[in-house]
Amino acid sequence: MSISLESPLSLLSARSEAVVKATAAVVAGHAEQITGRFYPRMFAEYPELLRVFNQGNQATGEQSQALAGAVVAYAVHLIDPDAPSFDHVMKRIAYKHVSLGIRPEQYTIVGHHLLAAVGEVLGDAVTPQVADAWGEVYWLFAAQLIAEEARLYLQAGVDPAHAVRRYRVVRRIEETADVISLVLEPVDGAELPEVRPGQYVSVFVDLPGGDRQPRQYTVSSTAFGTRLQITVRRVRGVNGAPDGRVSTYLHDSIKDGDLLDVSAPAGDFVVDPSEGPLLLASAGAGITTVLPIVEHIARTQPERTVIVAHADRTARDHALRDTVLHVARHIDSFTSYTWYETVDPADQRSRQGLMDLSQIPLPEDVQVFTCGPLPFMRHVRSTLLDKGVPPSHIRYEVFGPDLWAAQVAAG
Ligand SMILES: Cc1cc2nc3c(=O)[nH]c(=O)nc-3n(C[C@H](O)[C@H](O)[C@H](O)COP(=O)(O)OP(=O)(O)OC[C@H]3O[C@@H](n4cnc5c(N)ncnc54)[C@H](O)[C@@H]3O)c2cc1C
Ligand code: HEM
Repeated sequence: MSISLESPLSLLSARSEAVVKATAAVVAGHAEQITGRFYPRMFAEYPELLRVFNQGNQATGEQSQALAGAVVAYAVHLIDPDAPSFDHVMKRIAYKHVSLGIRPEQYTIVGHHLLAAVGEVLGDAVTPQVADAWGEVYWLFAAQLIAEEARLYLQAGVDPAHAVRRYRVVRRIEETADVISLVLEPVDGAELPEVRPGQYVSVFVDLPGGDRQPRQYTVSSTAFGTRLQITVRRVRGVNGAPDGRVSTYLHDSIKDGDLLDVSAPAGDFVVDPSEGPLLLASAGAGITTVLPIVEHIARTQPERTVIVAHADRTARDHALRDTVLHVARHIDSFTSYTWYETVDPADQRSRQGLMDLSQIPLPEDVQVFTCGPLPFMRHVRSTLLDKGVPPSHIRYEVFGPDLWAAQVAAG
């Protein structure tokens, strides 16, 4: 059974609704200051949570922005009957939490520190009434997430206290100078979990020096049957920022036979078999979502039209390209377009520059799956909207905290 994630207006009490309406703008205006205080408070009391939260996203402030954006968008959703659907945001957070083994009892910790941070930032403006109203918003949000997460844990047969399984790296493949694939096999010898193409896993890595850190990687192939593959691009620091910790570690240190803790597959960036032709528009590491979808269509619906469009720096940086084309030979109607910032003079087929879908013929009823950096996906989306593709036909995956969804949901 699937439950609707839509929250009827009546969820918020009439008294709190009036207070939230009166204070939403001031809370929204201070939201990042609030979440900026919240995390250090919480980590000071529960340092073990540093091993569950992505410290890269803490350093860049992206997780803080994502949390602030989500709470504000949720409050707007509660008080504005015309606010866009919140379903996608709720599902995205719940899947992310489940991949990290988040448990209901931890909501008390987060709630305590988040509401205390509201008090610290807004000071005397937080009367007992205001505190109660925002407490109610928090716990409504929490209750819906906890319910959805319970459903996802049950569906995946995962005990949240043991949310990861140990896998052995059975093969390391050098895809490009900056991209490797790791083929993983469960150490317990039991079956693979069900993986829907486009889903990701959280991989927990024990780093030199004792830190443990999770990162998400799309399951880039399940063609091996008893094994799953992830494909990792090395993240280099720019403008003085440090190199990515986990991707660098995986590139520099992981070898055949090593062990990794891996969550059950998560995420709703998945293809529906009943929908129409597909356009898969990717850039850079976003290609990892393309291969599993192409594999899946080749296996289960070879008559379904698939168009892939990929942008990269050069052909040499375009990972998994040959594998995608090889698998796609089993699809009746398959077209591939590529854009490179620098095109090799001998390459007559690729286009120069950034992806431009405006001239690409698209079938009626096309369903779009796009994955890549946010500016790239914004560009793809606006070009497609201009071409008349309805917004509901455009799905996207962000390789970091989703700073877009909450903005869209907040209207
Ligand atoms: C759903 C999902 C699916 C994903 N799928 C894939 C995939 O298939 N393949 C893939 O390669 N990646 C994927 N990712 C991205 C992946 O999870 C990691 O984010 C990526 O590998 C970088 O992790 P890292 O530890 O190397 O970098 P981090 O150490 O987390 O650093 C990330 C960025 O933050 C910057 N930074 C870190 N610390 C600081 C600081 N103190 N000051 C300033 N800047 C700083 C770094 O320079 C870097 O640019 C996915 C992410 C998500 C959410
Ligand atoms: C109502 C309460 C909560 C809200 C609104 C919330 C919201 C969010 C949001 C918006 C994200 C980013 C999702 C994305 O990747 O796009 C996120 C991620 C995350 N949440 Fe929560 N969360 C809540 C409770 C909790 C609790 C109780 C925990 C447990 C300690 C938790 C731990 C995490 C972790 C570890 C991440 C991943 C962080 C990262 O990758 O940087 N959250 N949450």
